[in-house]
Amino acid sequence: MSAVVLIGAQWGDEGKGKITDYLAQEADLVVRYQGGNNAGHTVVVEKRTFKLHLIPSGILYPGTQCIIGNGVVIDPGVLVKELEQLRQQGVSSHNLRISDCAHLVMPYHQKLDEMQETQRGAYKIGTTKRGVGPAYADKAARTGIRMADLLNREIFAELLARNLEEKNHLLAQVYGAEGFVFEEVLERYLSYGEKLRSLVTDTSLAINQAIKEGKRVLFEGAQGTLLDLDHGTYPYVTSSYPTAGGACIGAGVGPTKISSVLGVAKAYVTRVGEGPFPTELTGPEGEHLRQRGYEFGTTTGRPRRCGWQDMVILRYAVRVSGLDGLILTKLDVLDEMDTLRICTGYRYRNSMINEFPHSLHVLAQCEPVYEEMPGWRQDISEAREYGELPVKARDYISRIEELAGVPVKLVAVGPGRHQTVIKDPIF
Ligand code: GDP
Ligand code: IMO
Ligand code: MG
Repeated sequence: MSAVVLIGAQWGDEGKGKITDYLAQEADLVVRYQGGNNAGHTVVVEKRTFKLHLIPSGILYPGTQCIIGNGVVIDPGVLVKELEQLRQQGVSSHNLRISDCAHLVMPYHQKLDEMQETQRGAYKIGTTKRGVGPAYADKAARTGIRMADLLNREIFAELLARNLEEKNHLLAQVYGAEGFVFEEVLERYLSYGEKLRSLVTDTSLAINQAIKEGKRVLFEGAQGTLLDLDHGTYPYVTSSYPTAGGACIGAGVGPTKISSVLGVAKAYVTRVGEGPFPTELTGPEGEHLRQRGYEFGTTTGRPRRCGWQDMVILRYAVRVSGLDGLILTKLDVLDEMDTLRICTGYRYRNSMINEFPHSLHVLAQCEPVYEEMPGWRQDISEAREYGELPVKARDYISRIEELAGVPVKLVAVGPGRHQTVIKDPIF
């Protein structure tokens, strides 16, 4: 049995897209299970760059089936555009399937996301303003519209009318914003529906069948552990479940079918959006990481906040997702550092905290306690075998393994598909 869940172990942008693409060469199926086009996954193959938001990062292999599971929220206009962009880049999407249970991101969701962020003022979350939070809110409120509904004119028209009645009122009365015109949204969305119709199906059936046949299935998480609605730094989180449990719900697969769970973590930490970040570097070291790691959001272009590796976070990620191992990315970004710091615990008032605190009030007052290690100060981007990494880089990895309590399986030393070092094979 080989069903592997790949999740982000930090605050997103860990390099899940690159690693999924790398592993997808050996996978039969790649499944996205949560999030929407708030995600931005960059895949670099030779000199070509692909930016994926909704489509799984296995799409570049014609023989790999890709699935957008029920747990994803889909802006169909964005999906149609993404398919068209891939087509222009010479990538066929014949192997893509979309769950009929996936909820739609509607134009009013995006508008509400914008309006709510503005209204939050100093308490803003820093969302991607893609309508993802409001779409999940409607799903939970049982007023959402699903992919299957989009394929039936009468049903879609009725659900749209009911929603617009409420949403246009809300937009006008609470936010003083203009609402949406029924006919315009109806025709536009139905036309997306026609473009996507042939791809929509019961994807849980296909995934379970593949697992039964012993095929290799890779579940590609979006966002990361600390953006999880339950386990993250609430309310500075996304509205879905990026932790491993989300894969079961978001794909329609039982936990007994999952063979292993891996966490993708950067060699340091980044965060985009608001919220606490204990090891954040606001001075020149943070700027160095941002420039060297090209830490600017794939979706919004916002500069990412950067900081030292935080083992309190990684231990927490190991716990809440039951990680079997880590995949360490962007190790090359640390090449020029003289000294590296790893946060091993937090000091809170006069005591030490070793477990990630849930209270934001406590977290905001935590000071990281660091261990220092010497940098390797050499270019590692050409390393392909583990033994080719400098001893000091291997020492850094070993220390992360010790502190996390799980092994590092792969190490990424550059954005390219083959800039990947296998320490312990995954499939
Ligand atoms: P994701 O959201 O987790 O898929 O990550 P993103 O694609 O948003 O951000 C990761 C960025 O780092 C992308 O631009 C990748 O091309 C790049 N990247 C991934 N792995 C490495 C690596 O090992 N080294 C370097 N230098 N860049 C990497
Ligand atoms: P990938 O899959 C990093 C962040 C936003 C904001 C918070 C809520 O590329 O790792 P949302 O729009 O989801 O309501 O915003 O979550 N966020 C991400 N940060 N990577 C992502 O996705 C993210 N998706 C959302 O910046 O702080
Ligand atoms: Mg990203």
